Amino acid sequence: MPETPTFVPGPQYDGWLTGVEQIGYGGDYNPEQWPEEVWAEDVRLMNEAGVNLVSLGIFSWALLEPREGEFDFGWLDRVIELLHDGGVRVLLATPTAAPPAWLYAAHPDARVVDRTGTPMGPGGRGLMAPTAPAYRSAALRITTELAQRYGKHPAVVGWHVHNEYGAPVALDYSVHAQRAFREWLRDRYDSLDALNAAWGTAFWGQHYEDWEHVQVPAVAPEAVNPAQQLDFARFSDAALRACFVAERDAVREHSSAPVTTNFMAASCPATDLFAWGKEVDLVSNDHYLQAANPRGYVGLALAADLTRSVAGGKPWLLLEHSTSAVNWQPRNVAKRPGELARNSFAHLGRGADAIMFFQWRASRSGAEKFHSAMLPHAGTDSRVWREVTELGANLGRLTELTGSRVHADVALLWDYESFWAQDLEFRPSQGARHRERVDTYYDRLWRDGHTVDLARPTQDLSGYKLVVAPASYLLTADAAANLTAYVEAGGTLLVSYFSGIVDEHDAVHPGGFLAPLRDALGVRVEEFLPLRADDALTVTYRAGAAGAGAASTDAVPLTGTVWADDLVLAGAEPVGTYADGPKPGGAAITRHRHGAGTGWYVSTSLDVDALATVMADVYAAAGLAPSGTVAGLEVVRRTGDGGTYTVAINHTDGPAKLPLPAPATDLLTGDAVTGDAEVSAGAVRVLRTTTA
Ligand code: GLA
Repeated sequence: MPETPTFVPGPQYDGWLTGVEQIGYGGDYNPEQWPEEVWAEDVRLMNEAGVNLVSLGIFSWALLEPREGEFDFGWLDRVIELLHDGGVRVLLATPTAAPPAWLYAAHPDARVVDRTGTPMGPGGRGLMAPTAPAYRSAALRITTELAQRYGKHPAVVGWHVHNEYGAPVALDYSVHAQRAFREWLRDRYDSLDALNAAWGTAFWGQHYEDWEHVQVPAVAPEAVNPAQQLDFARFSDAALRACFVAERDAVREHSSAPVTTNFMAASCPATDLFAWGKEVDLVSNDHYLQAANPRGYVGLALAADLTRSVAGGKPWLLLEHSTSAVNWQPRNVAKRPGELARNSFAHLGRGADAIMFFQWRASRSGAEKFHSAMLPHAGTDSRVWREVTELGANLGRLTELTGSRVHADVALLWDYESFWAQDLEFRPSQGARHRERVDTYYDRLWRDGHTVDLARPTQDLSGYKLVVAPASYLLTADAAANLTAYVEAGGTLLVSYFSGIVDEHDAVHPGGFLAPLRDALGVRVEEFLPLRADDALTVTYRAGAAGAGAASTDAVPLTGTVWADDLVLAGAEPVGTYADGPKPGGAAITRHRHGAGTGWYVSTSLDVDALATVMADVYAAAGLAPSGTVAGLEVVRRTGDGGTYTVAINHTDGPAKLPLPAPATDLLTGDAVTGDAEVSAGAVRVLRTTTA
């Protein structure tokens, strides 16, 4: 039997416990799906795989409280003891994402209602209306019972509240939501006059004289007031967060173990994770690859960087990913040999101190029986099991990485309000999707080997050499002032089209499009000139126009799609002009000195390859050195007391060279490495360098 792992509170969690002495390793454990005889084998195999942490009881409410107010904790007592004896620690779940049938039978109004007015379920999960009083009180009762019973149990090192708030549905249009939305609006605006002004209700005769007439934005034949929809998105996020806070506080009454909940950083924009990050003791995330995208590992990196940013740079837990295929996408592609390790190490390199999966043992029944697991249906004589045990052994060699931090020189702006506002109806072009620009700019930065933090436009940006604003449609005056001050103080800011357009009420800024960034960028947008779906235009870009570091000053043609602007220069110099399209000869890409820094503006949609040319100049202007590694070798660094840890993941089919600044130790093999390291095709290396 391997040594019992011990968990010691570490400084990286500000004294909040779960200072994992080792990298956490494990997954969701659903023992109630199996006869009790199987549990002992589970723990034995967990030990074999190096599992030291499981999330337990996530969907157990109906078994723990089979009838309202009647509890059965016997089976959970026994399974927790077994895990404890086996040295496996527990993140105990509050099972409130799947209320029992008795709750819905007694309170059908506690179900979530969709935009058409149809109540959801039952038969699924996540179907409760977050503001339904019957749900809220029942959820607090089971949470309190669990916290009282297990709050001081030595095996319970943390709490996993609920499951993926906002999934499978984040917006509820029930009668309870209707009531709570009005209360939320009264709190926010105080008077109907203020609400009328904020929502611009003079338009289309939407003026309100009575709070009772204000509605949730239900389905309509045409566009619904965008400010109303934006407030509904804010309210819906706040309603879910209030559920979390109530459960967290109920847990804290009886337990000092840290409380977390599993976010869906890159896939669920309905929850403002920067706000949620302030409420949890520890940040956790779930991530699943989009199987249709063979380069899904770039999306993985974005999700991990966002999670770390939400955690304020502190280590975080990857609570779920998959060992192989999922079962809920149209075509569920199995992971290739080594992909499980590559994905896991990418999360680790970007700051995760726990690598966990959905789920421990594959289910025989129910909706997720075709989802991969740590212990697959094929059993232990299988590739997946061998890769799972190998990963467990390798993570066991990386204890010294716990608590180490990732540093990023580049910030990419990520703002939920802008997300919620941009993609509503009646926009200048359906081709201008918020997420698309974020992904494309992130992909460029990933390919160029830059580690990126995701940042709010209002936060302190002074530590970054470069800030990229790929989709800042909604930009408050304060946020614009912050970006302008960043440039003034010497920063390099790059802004993409359809940014700086509206304020917090989705009202166009006085002074016109881009007005709040005029000082920083030295341009204004007189009119949007969106393109037809299949149209493209050419930008003549003078590579090297930016000066320092430029390869040449020859004109380079770049293809743009989706968008163009009628730009008026107000101090900026054009470094790219439209050769054709709606405004031939007009400025397309500009650069502007402001204070000690520079503001760049790109007014069309360049794809990831075309962006390479422009970004090379932007990096040079920002003083960002090229990474010097081949495309497809993902390199991230964590720094801790023991030195710098370079995590290198080779996504290519050939060996890749990794230049090292100093002699290193390979932490997976123990070998000393001098000169360049080589990372074989599809492989992962973790190298420690120390400087004297
Ligand atoms: C989500 C849920 C899990 C499981 C997985 C499947 O992340 O939290 O319960 O359904 O998806 O991928």
